[in-house]
Amino acid sequence: MKIASLGMSAQVAHLRDITPTVREFSLRLAADVPPAAYSWQPGAHIQVQIPVQGQLQTRHYSLLPCDEPGMLSIAVKRAEPGRGGSQAMWRLQEGDALSISAPLNHFHLDLKAPAYLLIAGGIGITPLLSMARQLKLRYANFQMIYGARDAQELAFHDDLKRLLGDRLHTVVGSAIDFSPAIAALPTGAQAYVCGPAGMLASVREAWGKQDRAPSLLRFETFGSAGAEHAFEVNLPRHDLSFEVSPEMSLLDALELQGVSAMYGCRKGECGLCAVRVLALDGSIEHRDVFFSEHEKHSNTHICVCVSRVRGRITLDSAYRSDAIAAIATSSTR
Ligand code: FES
Repeated sequence: MKIASLGMSAQVAHLRDITPTVREFSLRLAADVPPAAYSWQPGAHIQVQIPVQGQLQTRHYSLLPCDEPGMLSIAVKRAEPGRGGSQAMWRLQEGDALSISAPLNHFHLDLKAPAYLLIAGGIGITPLLSMARQLKLRYANFQMIYGARDAQELAFHDDLKRLLGDRLHTVVGSAIDFSPAIAALPTGAQAYVCGPAGMLASVREAWGKQDRAPSLLRFETFGSAGAEHAFEVNLPRHDLSFEVSPEMSLLDALELQGVSAMYGCRKGECGLCAVRVLALDGSIEHRDVFFSEHEKHSNTHICVCVSRVRGRITLDSAYRSDAIAAIATSSTR
């Protein structure tokens, strides 16, 4: 599912470093783009096409609040060490041209709930900024928990503090117990989570223990972040073996090798990128939220957009039809 053209032209109008590793990009749309084409609601993102190691690749970035007509704003965390998408974004200069998509939204904010809990981890704050702003404008009953590994990674903290006051609860450098905040929510309240897969797993566990409806927990992940190890991949059908470096996802590596790969969300949520595992010498770090715990334990498939390996893995690179069947099954779970 490679995207040849994303449909809208934009120019980098302003760059602003929010933290040492998070940069805001203000993008000016071409003058002929009508406002209806770039209007969006909280939780929306855009796709951005950028060259990564000589190949055009697509990345997804949540939209930040931006009141200026003809502009869209995103923030990108620079991965270290890296030669991937974030590094390519950070090489952009003011005035550079970009191909972007119209705003898309798979993380809608439902405005009918009696209360809300917003939970962000690190750069996962980006889609929740516009949600917090909208909830505040509507005098909604809500709280936000914002966690980061260190205080420097609390991007937009001052803006949030001004906006939310005592509704904002920050946690730096330690695991978060989500149970008390979830227990304090009235019946029918919703939670919106954006953060690493481990954070989402903790929230899901606490949410489930309190018998909250799964449909009221909405989330986005960025499960490919934070890799420390390279691993080896064999593709017998392509007679290929290669290494996946820490800064690159397995999906990126497949594309770089010229292996056609199907994908959708690139965040471990849709399952479209699932590939059959033929052999495993080591272990899989399943970082997706698509497969069940039982399926993950079986190690028969891997979501190549986010999951990683300790050791060596052999994949069936022709595997496709089963993936589609798995998604059909999942949609009826
Ligand atoms: S592309 Fe959606 S789970 Fe990998």
